[in-house]
Amino acid sequence: MKLMNVLLSACMVIAVAVASCNNPVKVEEVATTKASITKADWGEFDSSKVYLYTLTNNKGTEVKITNYGGIVTSFVTADKAGNKSNIVVGFDSLSGYLAKPPYFGALIGRYGNRIGDAKFTLDGTTYKLAANNGKNHLHGGLKGFDKVVWDAMVMSDTVPSLMLNYLSKDGEEGYPGNLKVSVTYTLTDDDELKIEYNAETDKATPVNLTNHSYFNLSGDVNNTILNHTLMINADNYTPVDTTLIPTGEIKSVKGTPFDFTSAKVIGKEIDSVPGGYDHNWVLNSKGGSLQKVAVLSDSVSGRSVEVYTTEPGLQFYTGNFLDGTLINRDGKHISLHTAMCMETQHFPDSPNKPDFPSTILKPGEKYHTETVYKVVVN
Ligand code: GLA
Repeated sequence: MKLMNVLLSACMVIAVAVASCNNPVKVEEVATTKASITKADWGEFDSSKVYLYTLTNNKGTEVKITNYGGIVTSFVTADKAGNKSNIVVGFDSLSGYLAKPPYFGALIGRYGNRIGDAKFTLDGTTYKLAANNGKNHLHGGLKGFDKVVWDAMVMSDTVPSLMLNYLSKDGEEGYPGNLKVSVTYTLTDDDELKIEYNAETDKATPVNLTNHSYFNLSGDVNNTILNHTLMINADNYTPVDTTLIPTGEIKSVKGTPFDFTSAKVIGKEIDSVPGGYDHNWVLNSKGGSLQKVAVLSDSVSGRSVEVYTTEPGLQFYTGNFLDGTLINRDGKHISLHTAMCMETQHFPDSPNKPDFPSTILKPGEKYHTETVYKVVVN
């Protein structure tokens, strides 16, 4: 009898996948998903409710986003054999993020990357920011946009789209002006995760918004990303000092380990870059219009991620500070170089580098940038 029950429930479970034990249908037919966006309670922070939204497209690709930090917690895509796995590192519960991991999946602001000596002068006034990275300011300060609760609004469930809004008050983390920020994540049927960033201010302020997703296209952090290949359409990069602040120079990548103008295995020359890659590439597209600027590929899974952006820069970071202490959702240690970031941005320390493209947003202006991470399988 017991065995009968087991067999029966096994049949019921399998039935979800094959419709009927007696009359199996092709898995593709059953696997057809209808695009949707769902919302689940995910806890509370700073007396605000935190939710986890699941965006699914018609192909069954699934992205999870929480309104805490606007974090992309999960990005599940099929490999060349049709097997699904998660191509970004992250956690299944809010507590993992409240323990302050290094910006996993998060929205970064008010200023992505570093501002030297944690200060800048604008219209004759010097603004002091938190020095949260040695003597420098990193990723918006002690409580950047990655550590606040955003207001979320579902915009569409046919092409699942989620808008996140946040008001960064005048003086927050030392920055001038009330900055109204709105970020919209959309998952298309072409497996594109599209991110649109909008902002307006009532006082001139630096703004440089990005997303800090850590990719491992194998879907398994037991593999490093050193065997992934990367192409960055950039003839130049911005060299840095020992504290990772750009020297101000725009240097050719030619003949250096920074040359990714044609696809190259990431591990090939990484040993000649002290600490690993953590630099800003000066994109040939120069910013302004949405253009393909980088392609990351893993030949084993067959997955690639194409990066499109309107931004002039790309911070390519090889997870140099990952040391295995954090545990991924699947229980595996996130060790050195097991995940990497492609942060589209304006150049680090621009508020102190008059020759870099300006990051100053003035009252009456509209900040608008777009970045797309498109997953392609070959
Ligand atoms: C960015 C920086 C890195 C590091 C990571 C987070 O990519 O450039 O130096 O701070 O964020 O650990």
